[in-house]
Amino acid sequence: MSSPGKAELIHVFKGIPFTTRSSPELLKSLDNFDAREDDVLLVSYPKSGTHWLAGVITKLYKTQVTLTSPIEFGDTSKLEELDKLSSRRIIPTHLDYNMLPQNFKKKKCKMIYISRNPKDTAVSMYHYYRDNPNLPTVDTWTAFFDLFLDGDVVCGSWFDHFLSWEEHKNENNILFLFYEDMKKDLPKIVKDIAVFLDVKISDHEIQDICKKSSFLEMKTNTEKEKSHPNHTVCALTSNTKLVFRKGTVGDWKNYFTPKQNLRFEEIFNEKMKLSNMAKDLIYEF
Ligand code: A3P
Repeated sequence: MSSPGKAELIHVFKGIPFTTRSSPELLKSLDNFDAREDDVLLVSYPKSGTHWLAGVITKLYKTQVTLTSPIEFGDTSKLEELDKLSSRRIIPTHLDYNMLPQNFKKKKCKMIYISRNPKDTAVSMYHYYRDNPNLPTVDTWTAFFDLFLDGDVVCGSWFDHFLSWEEHKNENNILFLFYEDMKKDLPKIVKDIAVFLDVKISDHEIQDICKKSSFLEMKTNTEKEKSHPNHTVCALTSNTKLVFRKGTVGDWKNYFTPKQNLRFEEIFNEKMKLSNMAKDLIYEF
């Protein structure tokens, strides 16, 4: 049996490619979502460190919280399903700002946007495309590189996603984080998150969270767990074993040719010319 192709796995909604794991009916009904003031949104473009951040946030809370599946994952029964949860909801999403249900914005829910340098994001996503049966097959890095730059990948253009959120960088209810900063000084970032979420935490507890959130620890724990179709932080897979690949900064150097790097930089500089936050991106240590 041949593997399913793009037409069977991907549909386009409001110009953005989604996998069929996000039903068009659910995407259409997202604006009916009843947000609660204490909901916390965990927002990312795929492959930016979503699972890592989810691990940190859930460990921070001492009260009962529920890490839900992404808001755009599933069909219309999703809204009811999330409505039934009584504890505080930590809700992941890969949606860009414009597609985010209005109620989250009206109620000024806390949102944490995690970003990662787009070169490493592209390489990480390339492997996800290769390993994840929910995504169309890509034959070569060269082919994927073009798709990524054209935004012809699931969740659309990295540049548009980042810019749609950056426009809201001065809103007090949104915290912007970078994967590279988490790599560089996780205790500091855990502290920042705790302050943002109003969670009191000791230095000892921070150290403990950092220990439990190391790449190796998370990868090993995931390998021991059984995948469950609804236990997913990323709408693109329920198999978390696919997520913990390398966990480094600068892997792009093993993939980008000098010519590809030049082309990437040209497109990046053009698309991000008005972005202040893009200046802070770190590509290697
Ligand atoms: P690589 O593919 O470069 O290894 P997401 O959770 O958004 O899908 O992001 C996945 C990326 O985050 C993967 O990158 C994965 O290895 C990395 N990652 C996951 N947990 C991590 C951790 N604890 N520390 C560092 N990187 C982590």
